[in-house]
Amino acid sequence: MSSSQNGLTQYIETHRDAHLAELCEFLRIPSISTKSERKGDLERAARWVLDKLRSVGMSKAEIIPTKGHPLVYAESLAATGKPTVLFYGHYDVQPPEPLDLWTSPAFEPTVRDGNLFGRGTADDKGQVHIHLAALESLMKTAGKLPINIKVLIEGEEEVGSANLWAFVQANKARLKADALIVSDTSMLGPGVPSVTYALRGLVYYQVEITGPAQDLHSGVFGGAVPNPITILCELFAKMHDKNFRVTVPGFYDDVAKLGAAERKSLAKLPFKAKDFANTVGAPGLCGEKGFSVAERAWCRPTLEMNGIWGGYTGEGSKTVIPSKAYAKFSCRLVPDQDPDKITRAVERHIRKLLPKTVTCKFEVLSTGKPWKAPYTHPFFEVAHNALEAGFGKRAVFIREGGSIPFVTQMHDTFKVPCILLGFGLPDENAHAPDEHLSLENYFGGIRAVANFYQGLGEL
Ligand code: BES
Ligand code: MN
Ligand code: MN
Repeated sequence: MSSSQNGLTQYIETHRDAHLAELCEFLRIPSISTKSERKGDLERAARWVLDKLRSVGMSKAEIIPTKGHPLVYAESLAATGKPTVLFYGHYDVQPPEPLDLWTSPAFEPTVRDGNLFGRGTADDKGQVHIHLAALESLMKTAGKLPINIKVLIEGEEEVGSANLWAFVQANKARLKADALIVSDTSMLGPGVPSVTYALRGLVYYQVEITGPAQDLHSGVFGGAVPNPITILCELFAKMHDKNFRVTVPGFYDDVAKLGAAERKSLAKLPFKAKDFANTVGAPGLCGEKGFSVAERAWCRPTLEMNGIWGGYTGEGSKTVIPSKAYAKFSCRLVPDQDPDKITRAVERHIRKLLPKTVTCKFEVLSTGKPWKAPYTHPFFEVAHNALEAGFGKRAVFIREGGSIPFVTQMHDTFKVPCILLGFGLPDENAHAPDEHLSLENYFGGIRAVANFYQGLGEL
């Protein structure tokens, strides 16, 4: 280990409390992107990121307004001849509801049993802060950064990154880099550092089924008029067959076949179906026939209901035939499915299945393409070694089932390697009450990321 690395390691170790305290400050800002009344808090969070980037010595740092929540962009391009990377993350978070299921309040970060609890700890403020703390550590120990880095932190990831694409298109030269670096994914399990090489895509829909022109007395009319809730339930009951395959014609047409070699390497991962089942907490698991649990969650497309409502759901009973029934549902997509093609196929199938006694309004709320890429670029070797330096273990290469539309956009636009270093864990309750981040992984992440940027500078 060189003396500069010694200094770096020592800086990171002696600043544990300071880094954690600073992360808590970031987490206390309730930057919930889906709620319009939080606009001020999103601006506050963007400002917080901006100030931090300035304080770690990024030469250019600015807030870029969008039609939605602002972007934060910064760069440090002083390392002549060294690689340039683009680091992407998001400062927005999911709503905390249901509030009563949190052990400690969502926006009052609290340490319990070696974990930091609070909304945004794992997804994604905690992981963004790993990079900010690593950059600070590099800057404070060496007086400069070992590589050129561009940083883009958005505030609309959790609502589909609607305004990001236009910015990327209009700023291609500015964003150009040798690689994209993202920490917004998970490790396979505790003590198993992981690099993610594939994500699923997403199409999110909402349907509104209308029967009678207004709610009707179910005694006066029941039995002689269409009930939109019943029809909606019948519709969704037909969307899967007995082998859990989606029944939409053409749904699997473009799905790339899983190769034997990849199946073998996935099967060799220390993925424990039992841990997965424990995390889920259901009496049993289910899924598409012919595929392992990991393959079902990472490599196969799905159609899932996210919410269903309509009619009377208040206290006591109300005898009514509702005029309308609603559902939110989504498809996770895998290579080489095309979101537009799937959208059309799903709408066609739904319209065909619905009886003429109701009408249907069909909306697409967001889309994102799937992503999968080889991990052969030399930067991956540096990442692999850096994760070992941070966690004391060799990393594994995994796929994941979640979606980060920006990764595909960047990959398609710049054709550069995308290096996804995840420091969350699958059971850390992202999007749910009691979201948390393991402190071991937070500090290991800072060590690994600092080592990674350092290593890229030594290539
Ligand atoms: N960080 C997640 C994506 C993720 C989760 C990747 C788990 C890998 C494993 C991200 O913040 C997210 O929640 N994305 C949304 C999609 C978005 C378009 C709303 C998702 O996957 O549902
Ligand atoms: Mn995220
Ligand atoms: Mn998320």
